[in-house]
Amino acid sequence: MIETDVIIIGAGAAGLMCAHQAARRGRRVLLLDHANKAGKKILMSGGGRCNFTNMYTEPANFLSQNPHFCKSALARYSQWDFVELVVKHDVPYHEKKLGQLFCDRKSSDILEMLLVECDENGVELRLNTSVETIGKTDVGYRLDTSAGAMACQSLVIATGGLSIPTLGATGFGYQAARQFGHNVLPTRAGLVPFTITEPQLKALCTELSGTSVEDCVVSCNGQSFKENILFTHRGLSGPAILQISSYWQPGDTIEIDLLPHLDLPEWLAEQQRQQPNIELKTLLAEPFTKKMANLLAEQWFVSKPLKQYSPGELKAIAERLSAWHLVPAGTEGYRTAEVTLGGVDTREVSSKTLESLKSPGLYFIGEVLDVTGHLGGFNFQWAWASGYAAAQYV
Ligand code: FDA
Repeated sequence: MIETDVIIIGAGAAGLMCAHQAARRGRRVLLLDHANKAGKKILMSGGGRCNFTNMYTEPANFLSQNPHFCKSALARYSQWDFVELVVKHDVPYHEKKLGQLFCDRKSSDILEMLLVECDENGVELRLNTSVETIGKTDVGYRLDTSAGAMACQSLVIATGGLSIPTLGATGFGYQAARQFGHNVLPTRAGLVPFTITEPQLKALCTELSGTSVEDCVVSCNGQSFKENILFTHRGLSGPAILQISSYWQPGDTIEIDLLPHLDLPEWLAEQQRQQPNIELKTLLAEPFTKKMANLLAEQWFVSKPLKQYSPGELKAIAERLSAWHLVPAGTEGYRTAEVTLGGVDTREVSSKTLESLKSPGLYFIGEVLDVTGHLGGFNFQWAWASGYAAAQYV
């Protein structure tokens, strides 16, 4: 039987942070993962450059049924604390936009940095190890694993959410939570592309697949995001769509302002005065691509010279372009989602220590909890902050 102070299940972002920070305190830490490699999502993240935090992180960037929960951990380990670690390891980085910090080189710089910290602080990392059962003992927890029995005082669940099963995601953390009497809030895919099945709209998306429109405002359920959208073979994607997907429920309508920087009624009236003979589709090729302008002019409007539109028709065109309403058929689901919404109910976990209020010595960190960040480095910041907070108490 292996006996240690702390066992962390899940060597992802939160588990790696918690492991080296707890080991720094002198705790004997065993970090387990069923995968053959630690931090696979870190490697895949940010298009291979890991958007590891966001300069403007604040609690408003997170969704949770208990919105105050994330505040304590985020305040005690901020984005600047993580940047300090990145600087200490000479990892070159840059701000891409909107405070999003990315590696200059590749995501593996962040993973290697965390693995070096684990190694230097004496964390024992065991990969290819699956946990079969967890039991409670007088002094802590006992695990039956594929590598034999193990016992610890503190057990940390850091197994993440359900997104991208091919990267090792499982519902293990939710099962463990339920076993110890925790409520698990319904989970669904977040930061995920929409699928469209309505035939005319689907045809438009397919035709325009690969085309993006910059700085659209996408709204749903009282939330708005200004970012790019991208047409895909299956529907719509791009940062603004991924952001709004976390606020969308099946059946909800989303609204897209394709040209928020223009006062469209005024712009169209002005163009009618200045270029009365220009066709609508030619005019729309300025803000959009020629192909998109042609398709919109064909499908949404009757394209003709501007002078032939009545004021009422111009108003209708302006409304359509500034408030395009559509009902997605669904999302691409966990196969491509960046995160999982919902999860372990934070009302039963201490926001200070991340310890279970139901089972002393049991901790939950990272995405397994019902805390989900916006797109832009916030989900990693939550993994770092919650991992750090738990590490001070395990
Ligand atoms: P994480 O998923 O990182 O780790 C969980 C670990 O537990 C994994 O190593 C897994 O193998 C292991 N595990 C699961 N079940 C187990 C079991 N039964 N037994 C043992 N081990 C088990 N965020 C961000 O801020 N910036 C970004 O650029 C990106 N980019 C991005 C791209 C892609 C493609 C995805 C899918 C996600 C992102 N994210 C992101 C989100 C970010 O990756 C995510 O929120 C964090 O990795 C969550 O950290 P955790 O440690 O909680 O889980």
